[in-house]
Amino acid sequence: MEFLKDVLGIKNLSKEQMLYVIETAKRMKLLIDSPNKKSPMLQGKTVITLFYENSTRTRMSFELAAKYMSGNVANISVALSSIAKGETLLDTGKTLDMMGTDVIVMRHPQAGAANFLAKHVNASIINAGDGMNEHPTQALLDIYTILEKKQSLNNLKIAIIGDIAHSRVARSNIYGMTKLGANVFICAPDTLLPKGIEKTGAIIVKNKYDAVNQADVVMGLRLQKERMQHSLLSSIREYHEYFGLSEKTLSNAKDDVLIMHPGPVNRGVEMTSKIIDGTKSVITEQVKNGVAIRMALLYIVTRRSL
Ligand code: CP
Repeated sequence: MEFLKDVLGIKNLSKEQMLYVIETAKRMKLLIDSPNKKSPMLQGKTVITLFYENSTRTRMSFELAAKYMSGNVANISVALSSIAKGETLLDTGKTLDMMGTDVIVMRHPQAGAANFLAKHVNASIINAGDGMNEHPTQALLDIYTILEKKQSLNNLKIAIIGDIAHSRVARSNIYGMTKLGANVFICAPDTLLPKGIEKTGAIIVKNKYDAVNQADVVMGLRLQKERMQHSLLSSIREYHEYFGLSEKTLSNAKDDVLIMHPGPVNRGVEMTSKIIDGTKSVITEQVKNGVAIRMALLYIVTRRSL
């Protein structure tokens, strides 16, 4: 397996590399399920989480992943750090590098920020979301969750519905799922469908019922109001009517359809609570698998092999 210093995006990962991460995560999940969640796999290694945007799932799962493997872990609070005094990303990264950091897990509003820092520091960089570009660890945990239920993604029909335009999760998932042989259908209001998205291999579907009815997997996406410069929707009520998932929307879906959402969810907007908490939902399993995937990635990059 080739040398792997950083995890920057799914676009540049091969099918074999993705499956290797998932195989490693399966072993990590055994540790999460064991009564004593402690292994020495990351002993002597230091992981820093550097988040310029809010997070619950990603930041906390990386922190727990490092702790379960006995790594040293610290979090930088952007508001309380010298970043608030104007320190650049490069200077912050170099400062952390000189302190003996092995892995920097970073989330940044600028697309390409993780790639940029990876070129300038010795520490491994794991991209925990860069602007509207990629969220590779989310896609890996999503694919892992599907593989637990469906064995293979080959020829699977996966519908991704919601704010595609602002979604790094959608981009990473489209790259990863199509590489594994899935047919990915995307459905969104025209204002939330980026130009040229079909070049990624995704197929645009205008009507949510057409997207849902033949799907093996339906993934809802959050409306990212924080990234909308101006109003892109006439109303939330209308958005839910045409693009939200409810019992009515899923009334003709396959019996074994999986319902997914990367979180956080706006209940009643992209999905009703009955769907989020229903029997077809694997949203809580996505969260659990997120810890296993992040353990696998920390283990792999600290060995710098994949
Ligand atoms: N899915 C996801 O990235 O969630 P957080 O923003 O809570 O990390």
